[in-house]
Amino acid sequence: MRDSRETCLTKAFVAGFPIKHSRSPLIHNYWLSRFGMEGTYITREVSPDALPDFIAKIRSGEEPFAGGNFTIPHKEAICRLADVLDPLAEEIGAANTLWMEDGRLHVTNTDSYGFSANLDANYPGWADQKTAIIYGAGGASRAVVQAIRNRGFSEIHVLNRTVERARELSDHFGQSVFAHPLDALDELMKEAGLFVNTTSLSMNDQDVPKIDFTSMAAGALVTDIVYVPLKTSFLKQAEEQGLATVDGLGMLLHQAVPGFEKWFGKRPSVDAELRNIVIADMEKHA
Ligand code: ATR
Repeated sequence: MRDSRETCLTKAFVAGFPIKHSRSPLIHNYWLSRFGMEGTYITREVSPDALPDFIAKIRSGEEPFAGGNFTIPHKEAICRLADVLDPLAEEIGAANTLWMEDGRLHVTNTDSYGFSANLDANYPGWADQKTAIIYGAGGASRAVVQAIRNRGFSEIHVLNRTVERARELSDHFGQSVFAHPLDALDELMKEAGLFVNTTSLSMNDQDVPKIDFTSMAAGALVTDIVYVPLKTSFLKQAEEQGLATVDGLGMLLHQAVPGFEKWFGKRPSVDAELRNIVIADMEKHA
């Protein structure tokens, strides 16, 4: 049986605190207009204190949404408030996508899908490598480790300024995930097939250390999940040293695909026009 709120199935949101700068409406409204659909996707500023009430109102139908996205700072709290966590959200301990199904609130995490789909689209074959280096062990790193582990990398080295956080990650994911301090980088870089920056260092170019990427394996890829700036200092350095690079904007675009499909019933695609629209918006607000 379909949800009783049949008439409301084409309204979705992104909730965060703050939320003004979210690019999700741009992405979903582009797809809605592409499909010629009537739905809407709006921003909702929801403070952490107001989150339980907002969720209760979605559940009761007072807030007539088919579902929505949650961003900072709600990605963990939403896991405690939803009725059903899928295995991805369960394993990461954070969720970004919610939908109503049979009267219950389901959540998932689409960040690892977005990470892999971005690389699949822009550097097919990236997952044929065996060894990966993940620079950073914060919240965003978990989805990346999950994605890479699920694609069969046999050695995943997580390096972090606070080694304890990297250790928590390796304990959480087990076997093929190893924790290191940042100064282990040069040694680990030898023959690595993938380097991913997940730290916030990229947001401020001058803080990024000099990195030697030249000892990486043949066909290796360097990527960054930060997309403002689009070409981060990690990517610039790698490119100057002759490595292949993929920027992080595609992860943002691809992670939106499963949510749109859940709420609006059609699977959208990420194309150059969408990417250009988001880049133009980034330049406007730079
Ligand atoms: P997010 O959820 O976006 O990953 P986070 O949980 O605050 O944000 O994590 C930020 C990451 O950037 C962490 O890996 C952090 O290292 P610590 O765990 O040691 O804090 C890393 N980071 C931030 N500033 C850094 C700096 N100046 N040098 C090295 N790493 C830094």
